[in-house]
Amino acid sequence: MKFFVTGGAGFIGSHLCTRLIERGDEVIVLDDLSTGSMDNIAHLTSRERFHYRVGCATDRPLVKELVDRADVTIHLAAAVGVRLIVERPVHTIETNVQGTESVLDAAVAKQKPVVIASTSEVYGKSTQIPFREDADITLGSTMNSRWAYACSKALDEWLALAYQREKGVPVIICRFFNTVGPRQTGRYGMVLPTFAQQALQGEAITVFGTGEQSRCFGHVKDAVEALLRLVETPEAVGGVFNIGSDEEVSILRLAEMVREVAGSDSPIRMVPYEEAYAEGFEDMLRRVPDPAKLLGAIGFKPSTPLEAIIRDVVDYERSRLARV
Ligand SMILES: NC(=O)c1ccc[n+]([C@@H]2O[C@H](COP(=O)([O-])OP(=O)(O)OC[C@H]3O[C@@H](n4cnc5c(N)ncnc54)[C@H](O)[C@@H]3O)[C@@H](O)[C@H]2O)c1
Repeated sequence: MKFFVTGGAGFIGSHLCTRLIERGDEVIVLDDLSTGSMDNIAHLTSRERFHYRVGCATDRPLVKELVDRADVTIHLAAAVGVRLIVERPVHTIETNVQGTESVLDAAVAKQKPVVIASTSEVYGKSTQIPFREDADITLGSTMNSRWAYACSKALDEWLALAYQREKGVPVIICRFFNTVGPRQTGRYGMVLPTFAQQALQGEAITVFGTGEQSRCFGHVKDAVEALLRLVETPEAVGGVFNIGSDEEVSILRLAEMVREVAGSDSPIRMVPYEEAYAEGFEDMLRRVPDPAKLLGAIGFKPSTPLEAIIRDVVDYERSRLARV
């Protein structure tokens, strides 16, 4: 099959493209290299079935051309990462909403299937743990730009489902929970690569807030596997699916585990949210997916153990730091 992947030079995108090329598919990537990089796809550029264009997902003529050329579009391009969202809210809203609209609109004429990457952030401050796809969502005030990311992604979901109902575009929505693994960058506030880099360099590991907030970390390879199985499942069309591990860990414990795996004696330093972000920053205490719907649809759920995931990230960061 021929896949069009927006954001293909990013973290999840580059793992997805690698998997597709390995299994014999053809891939066209569109990426503006804002948070992604050519390094992420350097191992693919000489492959005959791999093509890439540097450009923007909001460039409608270009997106239309590439959607038409492919059998399936996977839309991953987005403004990602809490720090980026707090610092550049206009860019976040415009990229996430207009990019998705451009992809969906391009798919109408030939009714091409589209997979939309959403996020566990859409559950907002909900405390109904574990999060089920059909549960209510509770977002914070519009005066707090942190919620712009969640809201833009929720709007993407509504838009996608509306395009399916009104215009017949087959869509699948993947709500990714914290997805981690090699090649994820710590530059935009991603917690695991940041901890790994700090531990390996002997710096203090900085835990925001009390460290009691917990998350579930899934391996990017599991996320890619789930996404591709959904694409092959006709019953998945029109569905919204949580994609993530349900192994929960507090951020403080995560810092300790990273330190152990890295063999580091870095101290752990607690940093108030006000110091890390702007005053009034809000975070969720827990974020746990209910994996039942995904499991029922494809017979699979992300389950690589956390320690193995941390080892993978630490090994990757160790070899990356040795190169710089
Ligand atoms: N990694 C996670 O934990 C996670 C969790 C939830 C949701 N997601 C979603 O998964 C998708 C991929 O995220 P990721 O973690 O790989 O992040 P990433 O930043 O590595 O990937 C995003 C890619 O999109 C590209 N991009 C951004 N704006 C673009 C534009 N206007 N036009 C073209 N390309 C553009 C970036 O350069 C980058 O390569 C995103 O939609 C994100 O919201 C990721």
